[in-house]
Amino acid sequence: MQTIQTTQKNFFNLTTMDLIHTVGTLSRLERLYMALPSDTAKRHETLQELGKIWARAETIKKIEDRVVRRLEKLDQANCPLKVSELYKSIIQQENALQFVNSFRKDVLSVQVAPIRDSGMGAFGPTLLLRYNRPARGSSEDWIRKGVIKWTGPEEALSSEWMRSCLVAPGLMVPQSSIYHIEKGLLVRNDHQSQLSLEETAYMDKHLTLIRQCASQKTPAGKLVLFSERVAGVNFYDGAFMEWTEFFNSQKQWVFRQLGRMTFLDLLLGNIDRIVRYYEGTMLWQAAIESNLGNVMMTSSAFLHEEEMPTVYAIDNGLAKRFLYGSGAEGERKQYQTCLRDAGLKESREAAFAKQALKSIRCSFNKVEGNPLLQEELFADLALEESQQSFIQGMLEQKQEMLVQDSQVIASSLKTKYSILGDDVLTKILAFVQENAAILLA
Ligand SMILES: Nc1ncnc2c1ncn2[C@@H]1O[C@H](COP(=O)(O)OP(=O)(O)OP(=O)(O)O)[C@@H](O)[C@H]1O
Ligand SMILES: [Mg+2]
Repeated sequence: MQTIQTTQKNFFNLTTMDLIHTVGTLSRLERLYMALPSDTAKRHETLQELGKIWARAETIKKIEDRVVRRLEKLDQANCPLKVSELYKSIIQQENALQFVNSFRKDVLSVQVAPIRDSGMGAFGPTLLLRYNRPARGSSEDWIRKGVIKWTGPEEALSSEWMRSCLVAPGLMVPQSSIYHIEKGLLVRNDHQSQLSLEETAYMDKHLTLIRQCASQKTPAGKLVLFSERVAGVNFYDGAFMEWTEFFNSQKQWVFRQLGRMTFLDLLLGNIDRIVRYYEGTMLWQAAIESNLGNVMMTSSAFLHEEEMPTVYAIDNGLAKRFLYGSGAEGERKQYQTCLRDAGLKESREAAFAKQALKSIRCSFNKVEGNPLLQEELFADLALEESQQSFIQGMLEQKQEMLVQDSQVIASSLKTKYSILGDDVLTKILAFVQENAAILLA
């Protein structure tokens, strides 16, 4: 029996050419998928029929004709481009054998929806991708995974900054590449590429088509994040199942990682995760619920007792209102006063840990259909112990920040992210340095 090996491929670190190619393929797959009947049984039937086309045809010419005829039947008004047109243009560009091969692979790739809209996103859609792409002439299957997210400069820089500061095992920030729509620039790892005019036009066209097919949301930002799709669940969804199944040691580990993450969030001015901040509201006074959608972790189903879950910080961005607008300076000062005052009565870490635990409890309380959750969160794990783990994480991160040279990190980011524009960069970096002076003192 032939065994099929499966390799997972995340597209954040593809070469420029591969990424451009992948975006094109993805837009074609999404349109093919959208053209298929929505009824599951009918969709499978259609896919089977499409899959059989080359097996029945005697000549390549016949395959082309049949594919086009079959696709013409599939064309629906809700698709921005007719699927048959799409393949006709491929037939013209590629030789027939290549076309058959691409089409065969496409049919195999759309067995399930290749793209899912997360339904969120402040700058445009956040699209979650997962599809199977059989490798040419090999028994190996590639599972392509990724996230395409329209975003702003604050997230683009914050994610990278957080990643450079985190050296803790078990705590991760998804890797990403950034594409600037108008400038045709792509930043991957330490490498920045200027796409040719043709490549830029191709990329923009296919990103637009992907968005039109997969999401109704109109993007407000010029930056597109191609990010690693991490295996796991977000903390909010995980509250139904995962959390209650973690062992005590695993829960403590999560709190410790959340402490580290929160230390960096405070430093960055990211107020949309564990400890949140609203105008005029002192951080530690009100129980403002955490946004647990911005924390992900390994599913408990994949873990033994002695294994610790990986905790991921996703959706990392500092609040825009600290940087722009007429009241920005006041907002910044108010936030920094909060940071400073947090340590007046007890250690700053203890004050934030208490606030964090209160906020997490508060959001667990809101998980629908699970009224016991608040109790489950702390079942077997005393509140005191969770706070201690959280504080430990904050202190560990602080210690590491003192060793790392934040100036060096800042200047390397400046080189790498010059596409964001000097103005934004300087503002973000200055703000972080100011916060560092308070929190690392
Ligand atoms: N890299 C990723 N890997 C796996 N799942 C992800 C990833 N990024 C996002 N998701 C899923 O999509 C959901 C929404 O994503 P995310 O928080 O990044 O953006 P957003 O909330 O849409 O943006 P915004 O907060 O700016 O409105 C997450 O809660 C998570 O379930
Ligand atoms: Mg989010």
